[in-house]
Amino acid sequence: MLTTNTNPPQDLHEFGVKHVNHGVGRITEGIMVKGEGSYVVYDNGSRMLDFTCGIGVTNLGHAHPIVSKAAADQCMQLVHSQCSIALHEPYLRLIERLIPVMPDPSLDSFFFWNSGSEAVEAALKMAKLFTNRQNIICMQGAYHGRTFGAMAVTKSKTIYSAGVHPLMPGVYSIPYPYWHQSNLPVDTTASVLSANSLYQLELLLAQQTSPADTAAIIVEPVLGEGGYVPAPAEFLQGLRKICDKHGIMLIIDEVQSGFGRTGDWFAVTESGVRPDILIMAKGLGNGFPISGIVSRRELTDKLKPGTMGGTYAGNAVACAAAVAVNKVMVEENVFENARARSKELFAALNALKADPTIGSHILDVRGKGLMVGVEFATPKTSEHHFSSHSAASLPASSPYHPGLNHPENIASRVAKKCIEKGMLILTTSVYEVIRFIPPLNVTEEDMKKGCAIFAESVKEVVMEG
Ligand SMILES: Cc1ncc(COP(=O)(O)O)c(C=O)c1O
Repeated sequence: MLTTNTNPPQDLHEFGVKHVNHGVGRITEGIMVKGEGSYVVYDNGSRMLDFTCGIGVTNLGHAHPIVSKAAADQCMQLVHSQCSIALHEPYLRLIERLIPVMPDPSLDSFFFWNSGSEAVEAALKMAKLFTNRQNIICMQGAYHGRTFGAMAVTKSKTIYSAGVHPLMPGVYSIPYPYWHQSNLPVDTTASVLSANSLYQLELLLAQQTSPADTAAIIVEPVLGEGGYVPAPAEFLQGLRKICDKHGIMLIIDEVQSGFGRTGDWFAVTESGVRPDILIMAKGLGNGFPISGIVSRRELTDKLKPGTMGGTYAGNAVACAAAVAVNKVMVEENVFENARARSKELFAALNALKADPTIGSHILDVRGKGLMVGVEFATPKTSEHHFSSHSAASLPASSPYHPGLNHPENIASRVAKKCIEKGMLILTTSVYEVIRFIPPLNVTEEDMKKGCAIFAESVKEVVMEG
């Protein structure tokens, strides 16, 4: 007999705790019921300033009316047309909008997926097919996703892959040019960091994976989950040179850094480096699930039909939303706003770092555009830090260590306090880092408010000891 549940749960929150997979972590308890611009509203009525953007997704704020309307209109026209059966117009209109904003004009052959991880898988697969080689080089500290290939090239935290090895074989890594990754002092210059990482790459190619076996190098132009660290241009240029020398594909993962997040369409553009494959997602659809990879036609023309595909790959509603996102980015002066707000954010954070009472707790303020990280120093009295004998980032005489991201350490406590004061904000990496990912169209007033909440939270946490 068919039964129906006539008793819907009274307490939805409790229902969620019981029935949602425990493997999903969460920073807030309530149920999010509405998103409007830079704010989200919970079921208890609380309205929070959202400086997470759903982890770098809602770059134009929540439920942007033009984007939502484009999706709604497409819903009434054609929701799904599987890409191996027929192309649909929004798929092609999206390509039309994306070609002019690519970091290099050679990038002219697109494939759309749903999530960043899927796009990473497609990029790795394509690099192997293009080169007929197996091995992949990635960066220590990198995050590329949670599927098996993406997990294999993810080196930011063990939580993502612990207990499920072996992952995709043939993966090697070098340190990202981030002082932590090479245990160098915090003020190490970009040149030294770049030279160090490129030297490690050359060693790797001489000692562990021969260029003839190496299909691709995959890199985030701004390390995201690994700590919000922009790569120096000279590092990316060095990677390009080594790839050119050996016929290795350079895969640039702009899933988090793309679509205005760093003040330009793509973070890699400024370096002048040409990606062989570019990966995009998140800001592309402003919340509608869409990702993509783009490469050169001369390469993708060699693929056999059927090597790329997927039931929902390049969904019509998501593509229509992404077309609208693209228009709004241009028509609403989003880049200009992002650059102006970025200056204000850096000014506020650097003022905090210069504050005599709390500045010593801040190890580093860094980032690009509105992808900004603050790294805290942990007092040596804390139990949760990297071992004292090896941490070179601060002088031995310093009362601080580079700390571990731990609930009892400063970054986590500051993030928690910000949430209590009405602002969503995230930590990131295994270190003590807080990341700012506000909407690119955040107002001056809301940026001021966010900076004030952060400053108050830091002061209170430091005073509490
Ligand atoms: C740089 C980067 N690549 C890939 C991914 C994976 O994307 P998704 O979570 O959509 O699978 C992420 C997600 O945070 C990311 O930041």
